[in-house]
Amino acid sequence: MPDAPGQPPAISLHALVREFRGRGTPMRALDGVSLDVAPGEVFGIVGRSGAGKSTLLRCVNLLERPDSGTVTVLGQEMTRLDEAALRQARRGIGMVFQHFNLLSARTVAGNIAFPLEIAGVPRAEREARVAELLPLVGLEARRDYYPAQLSGGQKQRVGIARALASRPRILLCDEATSALDPETTEEILSLIRSIRDRLDLTVLLITHEMAVVKAICDRVAVMEAGMVIEQGRVFDVFTRPAHPTTRRFVSEVIGHVVPPGTVARLPDPNPGEERRLLQVLFAGPSSTRAVVSEASRRFGLDLNIVSGRIDAIGSEPYGLMALAAYGPPNAIEEASAWMRSLGLDVSDIGEDPA
Ligand SMILES: Nc1ncnc2c1ncn2[C@@H]1O[C@H](COP(=O)(O)OP(=O)(O)OP(=O)(O)O)[C@@H](O)[C@H]1O
Ligand SMILES: [Mg+2]
Repeated sequence: MPDAPGQPPAISLHALVREFRGRGTPMRALDGVSLDVAPGEVFGIVGRSGAGKSTLLRCVNLLERPDSGTVTVLGQEMTRLDEAALRQARRGIGMVFQHFNLLSARTVAGNIAFPLEIAGVPRAEREARVAELLPLVGLEARRDYYPAQLSGGQKQRVGIARALASRPRILLCDEATSALDPETTEEILSLIRSIRDRLDLTVLLITHEMAVVKAICDRVAVMEAGMVIEQGRVFDVFTRPAHPTTRRFVSEVIGHVVPPGTVARLPDPNPGEERRLLQVLFAGPSSTRAVVSEASRRFGLDLNIVSGRIDAIGSEPYGLMALAAYGPPNAIEEASAWMRSLGLDVSDIGEDPA
């Protein structure tokens, strides 16, 4: 997507280390993280609890100061700024939180205006800005409501409007949809996407849900134990995950393709032959049938398509298919290797994939 070559990154993190010293041995929440976020992209960070995601996000606006490494945002090296310059730079970076962090004694309008008050923006200007933001997040009719009178989705819309109040170029979201039901999550994600498009924002978002990554992100980094273990275009990471942890995350969304009871219905292999269940993941819906019949001819196998489905990430389709392969064991191996050489992701899922 917006990853235009030659354009300097909107966010550039280089070799970040952040250690916390408790009573015991010091632990590295960040252990040498480097990544670049291109202007205009939605970049996702996923990882299990404690992987270091929030610490990383908080380093972008220096709410968390790294022990070493550099943070550069829109060409400005944040790690070198003094307090006054940092306060100024932070206005260019909005932040959205999982639990909204709204002030309960203030109305919707009062919450949205709050950061502008702190920044000393005059009242008339604040009100004009709030009047612009309310329709952007679909809350015109809720202007004078208090947080207790709002749904979770509405509260997060307030959180987003508040984050946008100072016209930031960067939006940081820490589990912004984790407290919301699936339908509301979709609404908030599409709101984030549309404001990214309309306001030309760069979005860095944390989530533990691969479905969120699939729905909204252009690129993704997977974190584990303070390190980025894999990163790339969402489509590539989903269709060709390299690291076992990424594979586990991806399978939450991509899932297994073999319906329960399938194996029981398959015929037994002939004597001297083997039966193997293969899962084949491929980018693009075309020509896979041809590959399957070619593989069966070349390697003298009986390859049966047990099930399959086509889905898409962004606008790019991919397919997932289960094959029951019958034949000599080495021929199945060779056929798998051959299909891999054509760019299909083939894994042996054994006889009991449930
Ligand atoms: N202020 C702190 N003091 C001590 N340890 C901390 C502090 N902040 C984070 N940590 C530790 O650093 C590690 C990474 O924490 P972090 O909050 O970045 O993880 P996370 O990936 O955001 O997890 P979650 O998904 O649960 O939000 C954890 O082991 C955490 O306990
Ligand atoms: Mg966190």
